[in-house]
Amino acid sequence: MDDALAGTRVLIAGGDGEAARALGARLAAGAAQVTVAPDAEAAVQAALAGAPDVIVALGAAEGELRELLDPLELRTGPPLIGAAELELPEPGDEGAPALRLRALLDRAALERRTRELESALAAQTVGRRRDLDGVRIEMLRRLALAAEYRDDNTREHTERVAALAARLGRRLGLSELAVSHIRHAAPLHDVGKIAIPDSILLKPGRLSAQEFEVVKTHAEAGARVLADAESELLEVAESIARAHHERWDGTGYPDALAGSEIPLVGRLVHVADVFDILVNERPYKEAFSVEAAAEEITGGAGTQFDPDVVVAFDALGAGSWTAALQSS
Ligand SMILES: [Fe+2]
Ligand SMILES: [Fe+2]
Repeated sequence: MDDALAGTRVLIAGGDGEAARALGARLAAGAAQVTVAPDAEAAVQAALAGAPDVIVALGAAEGELRELLDPLELRTGPPLIGAAELELPEPGDEGAPALRLRALLDRAALERRTRELESALAAQTVGRRRDLDGVRIEMLRRLALAAEYRDDNTREHTERVAALAARLGRRLGLSELAVSHIRHAAPLHDVGKIAIPDSILLKPGRLSAQEFEVVKTHAEAGARVLADAESELLEVAESIARAHHERWDGTGYPDALAGSEIPLVGRLVHVADVFDILVNERPYKEAFSVEAAAEEITGGAGTQFDPDVVVAFDALGAGSWTAALQSS
């Protein structure tokens, strides 16, 4: 038990300083080589520099790391173990974390080996399709960028909306795969704006009713660009592009869907989109404070927004909203 982790490089990410230090001391007692990073971003840097055998994430760092490390990388990089999985013991039970981590690492190694065998079998057929999806996604990302660059005020908007929508999805208990799809598909939500003339898209001040009708066409136009995809990710992107302006009470566009008729991904992006527009300046409005914008979101529960998504939004709290705003 003294050397359960002999020579194993463990990177501890996040937690308050004390929790991370205490855990580090317990793992070092199992002969692990421990590095501590204060937050998720520092952990990524440390992981790149030091190639750890395992990352143990505490507190908020766990969700952030899962978001930062693409699921594909999670399958090939070091295993990421959360505090809950490690079942941190009561003070006094000094040896337990090292033994528990050893057991988790053995299991992760076995699972990885199984996956390698499975993917070797599937590689030939999947490989071709993945290449095709990759090309499509890259092409669409460039298209979305082209749409964004026409309007300076929304340049980083799409990434911020995707980051917040992914956080909302995780809060509602969606699978990591579904969260990853949202993270990668939501930046395309306004891709249909490519079809809106500059004279309207870049107009300072309020739009006329007729001009607004033109702007509204971006939802359908975006869905058309993304339609007929063979990949799940692009199906999610199509669904988001079409549904991100639907309102819970059925008065949104383009399909005037109501309640649960609106795809959940559309309801998530709608909240994230409105919040991001409120807290940032637009040609037709000043920026709201984070608190004032959050009040608007809460006030729209059950009319404009899915009440469950608003509950998730409130539960995330200001720290998480602000972190999403900075992720462009
Ligand atoms: Fe939009
Ligand atoms: Fe948007």
